[in-house]
Amino acid sequence: MIVMAKKVILTGDRPTGNLHLGHWIGSLESRVELQSTYDQYVMVADVQALTDYFGNPKKVVDNVLEIVADYLAVGIEPELTTIFIQSEVSALPELTAYYMNLISVSRLERNPTVKAEIEQKGFGESIPTGFFCYPLSQTADITAFKAELIPVGEDQLPMIELTNEVVRKFNRLYSTDCLKESEAYLSSVGRLVGIDGKSKASKSLNNAIFLSDSPEIIREKVYSMFTDPGHIRISDPGKVEGNVVFVYLDAFCDEKEEISLLKEKYSRGGLGDTTLKSLLNDVLQKKLKPIREKRESLSKKYLFDICFEGTQKAKSVAQKTLQEVKEAIGIDYFYKNPCDSRVF
Ligand code: TRP
Repeated sequence: MIVMAKKVILTGDRPTGNLHLGHWIGSLESRVELQSTYDQYVMVADVQALTDYFGNPKKVVDNVLEIVADYLAVGIEPELTTIFIQSEVSALPELTAYYMNLISVSRLERNPTVKAEIEQKGFGESIPTGFFCYPLSQTADITAFKAELIPVGEDQLPMIELTNEVVRKFNRLYSTDCLKESEAYLSSVGRLVGIDGKSKASKSLNNAIFLSDSPEIIREKVYSMFTDPGHIRISDPGKVEGNVVFVYLDAFCDEKEEISLLKEKYSRGGLGDTTLKSLLNDVLQKKLKPIREKRESLSKKYLFDICFEGTQKAKSVAQKTLQEVKEAIGIDYFYKNPCDSRVF
């Protein structure tokens, strides 16, 4: 019997805050689904987070186990998914060092995501090198595990494009095939809007419902959601489009027929925001209860052990790729028999 190796999937999250409903429908759900058919790695990207928070490392460190708790709470299983911590895998910065030779500064400057971030952070002329090079560190993350599928949002597409450029250059230059090209796996679900209706749900904008939120907080957030400012009396016709409550009902309520009837009624007039919010609150409370309970049942020790074991495995896989990379360049001095005259 021929056993086909499972394809490798790799994703990562910066540990800078708890995960919210946007992460859940945008990426966590697909990770849960993909873990049984792929060899899945999920990385806690603390090194990448430090490119932003090097002045406040505590913020990153404190969120490592939090994010792992979120993973396990939604159903990512340590038996099926390797969860690991980026900073522990020293093969990653080593690979980055070799990749840096292959990519020019101006090529990195052309990355639209990085460009937007430079603008947004107001770096001006003093862009930290660590920040500037993080797409190459991401290239190392992806190639170290020979990942072929990268489930990410659209803003990450330039990183995958860069990765494939490095892979092709490296393989050609050093006549090897040790690095693999990868492709993005874009979620079919768009970005979830924040409860304020203004932009995407995000921790920094304080407009998201977190997987760890208490029932009271969830309720409060649902009741503060942006609806239709023109919908004043119950009898007034209301707007469905741009109405956050409907966006969330579409995303989280399984009773699609009921929603479409509610939309009709709301547009016609005669359906109050409070009735609608109370329905959404019920839906979210029901969905988030088991997640919160699972989250609360996980001890720190258990989360730590999961990270430790996953990291050991990740280290050995990445080390093997590093070895191949060094061999391809010809700097594998001590892997070969030291008496081999080819080297010394
Ligand atoms: N850049 C990703 C983010 O900000 C995190 C990340 C780091 C990542 N390394 C990765 C994602 C490798 C996919 C593959 O969320």
